[in-house]
Amino acid sequence: MLSKIIEAALNSQIRIEAESSQIYLAMACWAEIKGLEGISNFMYAQSDEEREHMLKLVKFVNERGGHAQISELAAPNVTFKSIKEMFEKLFEHEVYVSQSINELVHISLQEKDYATHNFLQWYVAEQIEEEAVARTILDKINMIGDDKGGLYLFDRDIENLTVTTAATNTPL
Ligand code: FEO
Repeated sequence: MLSKIIEAALNSQIRIEAESSQIYLAMACWAEIKGLEGISNFMYAQSDEEREHMLKLVKFVNERGGHAQISELAAPNVTFKSIKEMFEKLFEHEVYVSQSINELVHISLQEKDYATHNFLQWYVAEQIEEEAVARTILDKINMIGDDKGGLYLFDRDIENLTVTTAATNTPL
């Protein structure tokens, strides 16, 4: 059984993951209308992943005697000054999500809820990967600069991007 404190904290994370899915969906649309098919597909896939993150939390809350709250979401940014700005926002957002997961882990320990603590380890590992991917992409974008040819190649190759992290040792 979840304590009220844990239930509220998990519900707040459900909202964050749902908002993440919307944020990346908006990025996918912006990239799509700019003709950047690879980046757009990458963002659509990111958006789907965030929905999975949300659903995993929803199931966990309901299975443990809580009630997952499906709430109104903040509207995401729908336009960006540049590809670089868009990926900077993605990176900043993932850092924010990591901080939120860390806070949840902290609360689970305070509440001595070891089942939730155990459940959250998957998210801890996932955030290491998500931040690593975002950082790798930003490095590449900075390298490309204003080179149109470089952007063309990046858009072509982004879907095959592999980042291996020490946490999981699995290529993405
Ligand atoms: Fe579910 Fe990208 O954090």
